[in-house]
Amino acid sequence: MKPNKIKQENWTTQFGVIMAVAGSAIGLGNFLRFPGLAAMYGGGAFMIPYLVAFFLLGLPAVWAEWVLGRYSGVRGHHSVPGMFICMTGKRNMAYFGSLCVTLPTIIVSYYTFIEGWCLAYSLRYLFGWIGKGSGDEYFQKLFAETTGLAGNGALFQHGFLNFNVFCIALCLLFNYFLIYRGIAKGIEWFCSWALPALLVCSLIIMVRVLTLGNPTGIEGQSVTDGLGYVWNPSQPNKTFWESLANPETWLASAGHVFFSLSLGFGAICTYASYTRRNDDIVLSSTTAAAANGFCEAVVAAMLIVPAAYIFLGPAFLTPENLNSSFTIGFLALPEVFCKMPLGQIFGFLFFFLLFLAAVTSSISLLQPQVTLLEEGLNIGRKSSLAITALITAFGTFFTAYFTKQLTALDTMDFWTANVFVFIISEVQIVLVYWFFNINTSLAELQRGSQIRLPYFFRFILKYVSPFYLLVVFVSWLYLKFPEQIEKISHNTAAQLTFAFLIFVTIFNLFITSRALARWKKLEILDSKKE
Ligand code: PHE
Repeated sequence: MKPNKIKQENWTTQFGVIMAVAGSAIGLGNFLRFPGLAAMYGGGAFMIPYLVAFFLLGLPAVWAEWVLGRYSGVRGHHSVPGMFICMTGKRNMAYFGSLCVTLPTIIVSYYTFIEGWCLAYSLRYLFGWIGKGSGDEYFQKLFAETTGLAGNGALFQHGFLNFNVFCIALCLLFNYFLIYRGIAKGIEWFCSWALPALLVCSLIIMVRVLTLGNPTGIEGQSVTDGLGYVWNPSQPNKTFWESLANPETWLASAGHVFFSLSLGFGAICTYASYTRRNDDIVLSSTTAAAANGFCEAVVAAMLIVPAAYIFLGPAFLTPENLNSSFTIGFLALPEVFCKMPLGQIFGFLFFFLLFLAAVTSSISLLQPQVTLLEEGLNIGRKSSLAITALITAFGTFFTAYFTKQLTALDTMDFWTANVFVFIISEVQIVLVYWFFNINTSLAELQRGSQIRLPYFFRFILKYVSPFYLLVVFVSWLYLKFPEQIEKISHNTAAQLTFAFLIFVTIFNLFITSRALARWKKLEILDSKKE
């Protein structure tokens, strides 16, 4: 059953696919979330649970998404609901697949809001609007102004006439423009230059940080001390075993691996569905995952944490200071740039690289919704994009409106990136390695590939990964769920956000039901023709 008569799109080069998929993975999670987590959970000691989660959960889930995507893509299904039917032969599974469209559509709503902050900061550095020698208070105020932290509606006091709102709108338009240009001409083209550009920016800043020596002259705050903090498994205030014995370290690392590799959100399988039948997808998927790991565990860790350590000292890197992913990026680093020679240029490069990283991720979050509308209703890219734009622009401005304690953003992040991502990934892994059969899945994965996965990986894919994921999810529910529910149950903004989540869910269930009806009809037409 082919879902439609839409012209088949494909990536043009293997480099392009790798850049697009790595672009989806390399995002704000790498540069904002990871350094905060690493610093909070004991620096070097965090790397071990992180690497374990990367190999036992991350890679197996990445390959599962690629198998799902390519298997269905060559059979004409690029929408996630279509993929679930294609893999299982069961129509009702499409409804479950619609969740993988709902999730990215919600995430992109808050992701673009943060993307707007990055653009605003980078433009401020570019035009010299950030004062040299500004201190802690100045940056607290700037952050509050940019994010509207002061209260709900703070960003819209003068309607839409606000620099920060303008930056958010610009980000939305830019993302839509890239999607409008399509898979090859929009996404592949942009990622093929943005990702190398992002790497160049980060390498320049990294060289700057690594050659700082000991600028403050305070003992124990040199570059080597900063690097020691990131890489040494034992810290002055906690031993290696103490850090490892903390279950939260394991949960945080596993959750982060999923978010960072863009897993469970429908983004990777949608991208994978545009590869060709005999493309080497083991190489593409593994390279993109490795590039993502490199960008966070090496580049971001060596750039951001040492910079904060050198200038602000170990006393700054406390759990209280790091309880938000934004502290290091938006409060500590701008202070560091002020103290650094040529800080304005480095400040610009840093926020511009964050902006590029955010765009390459947010376009991958938009694509699943556009594809479902396009294939499910057969309405063409322009109309599909227009509907997607309507929902996501509403979501983004909604998030930008309810900014008191960033409630809308936190609520969306909680339900998508913490709850549903685990459920969806578990189902995907079981579906691909159990239901679809591990031999068929590996044959699909390795078709056209020169790399053969070692035999013992079968055991990991089939038993270790689903079990590990289940343990992580259940422990997470036990430790964190009640506290989060309590936090949101008395808050009107959180409840309104929840209503938005329900709306998007119902909308996608409805579109899926229309799509099912259409595909069924097409099948009849096709069989009549035969
Ligand atoms: N992986 C991205 C990051 O690290 C976020 C993302 C999640 C992008 C899900 C696409 C899909 O920031």
